[in-house]
Amino acid sequence: MRNQVRLNTRRATSYCRGVLRSHQPLTSSQPATSRLLRSQLLVEPQARLKIQNHRLSTVVTPFTRPAIRMSIPLGGRTDLPVEEARAELKRHFSDYQGPKYADGWADLWAKGEFLPWDRGNPSPALADTLINHGDVIGHAMIEEDGQPRRKRALVPGCGRGVDVLLLQSFGYDVIGLEYAPDALKACEEYQKEHAGDYPVRDEKIGKGSARFLQGDFYMDDWLEKTGFGKDAKFDLIYDYTFFCAMQLPMRPAWAKRMAELLRPSPQANLICLEFPTSKPAMAGGPPFASPPKAYFEHLSHPGEEVKYDAEGNVKMNPLAPSSPGALERVGHWQPADTHKVGKDAEGKVQDWIAVWRHR
Ligand SMILES: C[S@@+](CC[C@H](N)C(=O)[O-])C[C@H]1O[C@@H](n2cnc3c(N)ncnc32)[C@H](O)[C@@H]1O
Repeated sequence: MRNQVRLNTRRATSYCRGVLRSHQPLTSSQPATSRLLRSQLLVEPQARLKIQNHRLSTVVTPFTRPAIRMSIPLGGRTDLPVEEARAELKRHFSDYQGPKYADGWADLWAKGEFLPWDRGNPSPALADTLINHGDVIGHAMIEEDGQPRRKRALVPGCGRGVDVLLLQSFGYDVIGLEYAPDALKACEEYQKEHAGDYPVRDEKIGKGSARFLQGDFYMDDWLEKTGFGKDAKFDLIYDYTFFCAMQLPMRPAWAKRMAELLRPSPQANLICLEFPTSKPAMAGGPPFASPPKAYFEHLSHPGEEVKYDAEGNVKMNPLAPSSPGALERVGHWQPADTHKVGKDAEGKVQDWIAVWRHR
């Protein structure tokens, strides 16, 4: 294990070399990237040396909202305050309980007027993870049977596909999975217009591929369309606002499916951006309250029911041994930056990143 960490650290350092290659000075007009730099200064001594010697290569475009010209407008009614948008979502889904639930999402995408989760730019927390936490997650290339290959990534419930394109720019071969046919149209349109906003992150690795597939996360039929085989498994799965989009009775199946789709390898990672962490459970959803302990209990016991208290909070049982097939949490931190909705009124990040692996 220690050897593997050392190896990963070396890889992360050489990867940082790619990220830190230009001589562009930092300015206060680069807030997101500056924050990434600050976190780099805090967490990575080797990166600190590189920063002092070379200064930071700032690739700002993916973190700024590009001009949007799309038939499904970004976010629809973006004027709504968060609480009102959440109340409206809850009302909408009261008509789509149980087996009809995923159709509730498809209906919102088909109307295209009310997509309050749709930020139109990739997650700063994912970017921070890819840039600053290579010591945990490695990078986009892997060796298999003595040959290098790109890691295969999955973004289930990818929405407009922004995080798919971000992972592609870091060199991953990425599948964006969506149940809603109109979300896929939005992905394809966005990809056509904005591929240039996601420049290659490391010339040595280059860009991977990005493909958008229609399918239900819980079913197998989309797997053969991935091009990775009908038993496809992924080296990286990224969950953002997918767990919290699930009704509570769906969570055991969510955890079981994640464990099934993640490659059983010490180099394969499920990355969960934990959100919303401070919403009261009684408020319902979507998004449903998703503090770290909710992910922890479900992924430690995939497919099993988890207990909730009278207020709707997940009950932790730290003494219960993990179940067979459980994933193990190998990293847990607060990202240097995240979307505004994941911060409190003072701008303090409330989200967490958790990295999970097969044991
Ligand atoms: C809250 S949205 C998040 C979208 C995206 N991750 C983002 O951050 O913009 C949840 C997405 O999951 C999709 N979805 C819901 N259930 C699904 C399922 N069973 N399989 C695939 N996608 C699903 C919905 O269509 C919706 O676009």
